[in-house]
Amino acid sequence: MYSTIAGTGSYLPEKILTNADLEKLVDTNDEWIRSRTGIERRHIASEGETTTDLAEHAARRAMQAAGVAPGDIDLICVGTTTPDLVFPNVGSLLQDRLGIHGCPAFSMEAACTSFMYALGVADKFVRLGDAKCALVVGAETLTRIVDWKDRGTCVLFGDGAGAVILKPSAEPGILCTRLHSDGRYKDLLLYPDGVSKGFALVREGKAGVQMKGNEVYKVAVNTLGGLVTETLQACGIGKEQLDWLVPHQANIRIIEAIAKRLDMPMERVIVTIAEQGNTSAASVPLALDTAVRDGRIRRGQLLLLEAFGGGFTWGSALVRY
Ligand code: ACO
Repeated sequence: MYSTIAGTGSYLPEKILTNADLEKLVDTNDEWIRSRTGIERRHIASEGETTTDLAEHAARRAMQAAGVAPGDIDLICVGTTTPDLVFPNVGSLLQDRLGIHGCPAFSMEAACTSFMYALGVADKFVRLGDAKCALVVGAETLTRIVDWKDRGTCVLFGDGAGAVILKPSAEPGILCTRLHSDGRYKDLLLYPDGVSKGFALVREGKAGVQMKGNEVYKVAVNTLGGLVTETLQACGIGKEQLDWLVPHQANIRIIEAIAKRLDMPMERVIVTIAEQGNTSAASVPLALDTAVRDGRIRRGQLLLLEAFGGGFTWGSALVRY
């Protein structure tokens, strides 16, 4: 038994923040941001718009694409680092919005890799026969926890959501998923406050995403390079068999380095970073849905999804779409 992607959906908030807008907030410029990251603009959740709001739009679009109704869903698995509330979790909040009652609903927190973790877990439920119609979402309002005075990080992030519906299938589907973490890198990329810490930094206005960008960059390239090789080997697939790379959209230079490792021309890499920035857990399902809807990704093609984020965490999925 395998799980297969029956439909995809995504959503971006209406409000757009361009590099020119950021020039008015911090000492930066369009040329620096474009050349170092590939980002031109990003979408920002409006006041009062939450992660669950974005997730609901993406989920409804994925359900419509898959031809399923809320009553068909028997598992909700959301990847996010920016939940609306401490609890109930975003999965439960989304479940309520969709009018679904009783099925398991939860969220997984692994920074930018959260969607890959959610997909990996939901895939196991479906393969084991414990779910017949799983809703898997990556949704994020990371711009809420950005330090808008720190030009090294605030130019990078955007908000959004993406979703997939997984169904059982005798044919793959998801050939394999790989999930990893190494907490020794916890100080290179973090948000330094939280519930158990007491939110002291938040109260003092000193909280915000912190990143040693250069070091993150180096580990990300090395780790993702190893991950794509490991994933292909685990499935006995050669890199020449891949149709599309659907990477986490953190930095165009990281994406290009991984494409090079796979000998893939950039024409076969889904890149949304210019318009969306780094939407953390939402970036892979957003890129996937974008390319499905514009007709680039077609049924039967072989896709490699991968992400890397705070923790560090990293994960992948090899998918016959
Ligand atoms: N505008 C203008 N100048 C800037 C800006 C900015 N927005 N930000 C930094 N600079 C300056 C720095 O102050 C520094 O100036 P100095 O030389 O006078 O000290 C100079 O530019 C170079 O800074 P670096 O940090 O060395 O720049 P780098 O080339 O490394 O690019 C970047 C920074 C884009 C952040 C890069 O390191 C990167 O993409 N890192 C990886 C990010 C990533 O993958 N994150 C993981 C996922 S995120 C998640 O999990 C939540």
